[in-house]
Amino acid sequence: MYTSSTRNPKRKPITAPQLREKKRNEEKIVASTAYDASFAALADAADIDLLLVGDSLGMVVQGHSSTLPVTVDEIVYHTRCVARGTTHALLVADMPFMSFRDIPAALDTATRLMSQGGATMVKLEGAGWVCDVVHALSERDVPVCAHLGLTPQSVHKLGGYRVQGREEKAAQRLREDARAIADSGADLLVLECVPAALAAEITRDVAIPTIGIGAGADCDGQILVIYDLLGITPGKRPKFSKDFLAGAESIPDALAAYAKAVRDGTFPTAEQEY
Ligand code: KIV
Repeated sequence: MYTSSTRNPKRKPITAPQLREKKRNEEKIVASTAYDASFAALADAADIDLLLVGDSLGMVVQGHSSTLPVTVDEIVYHTRCVARGTTHALLVADMPFMSFRDIPAALDTATRLMSQGGATMVKLEGAGWVCDVVHALSERDVPVCAHLGLTPQSVHKLGGYRVQGREEKAAQRLREDARAIADSGADLLVLECVPAALAAEITRDVAIPTIGIGAGADCDGQILVIYDLLGITPGKRPKFSKDFLAGAESIPDALAAYAKAVRDGTFPTAEQEY
């Protein structure tokens, strides 16, 4: 299998424990999505720490109106493509809708994403019963990224793509879910579309790094969909994203500007927060 470390042995891949160390050292973690080898190679060269093969590919690559139609086969295919372009970034693959519905299904999906796709971490949305799945994966030494707040696979239950945790009851639920997910053995936690003050509180409370998307500047790191940060996504850009290609000379410059802005704390600003 062609992996990140065989492609360029001089540049060592980032590991899950190194991300935790970055949190302890208050060094921001820079992340973006990637779906193919060419963009992955540019993001990797721009010193992006983590590349996520997100099920957002269902929307931005395949043109669906939600992430629900994405299959495990498709994530495996795109993860293999991204792995060929990556030498340094930690490679995270998303577990699609219903592919982690119980522990046996989650173990099968994680096996495929890691052994066939070349991922070094898997991501899954939700809390509650998902904590048992996280625990089962973690017990088997599968690094896990959890995802709370706006969880796009629950769009039909949530009633739309909306900010989560604005009311005190919902905020309290998110605090408890974050703690439970961290206690279950997750290595990383994505917080999507959560008020900045609540995300900051959760970031202080849990030992694992938080990666925000529409969750304010106080998360331990930031992630954006690569098409959003390069201004490629058609239609209205989400409030929390920024087009880094506007004003940059090239895609590599735009990716480097994004990485710098996250590291020096100039992205996100209040304009991109809830
Ligand atoms: O699927 C995805 O790209 C994601 C990120 C937006 C966090 O889940």
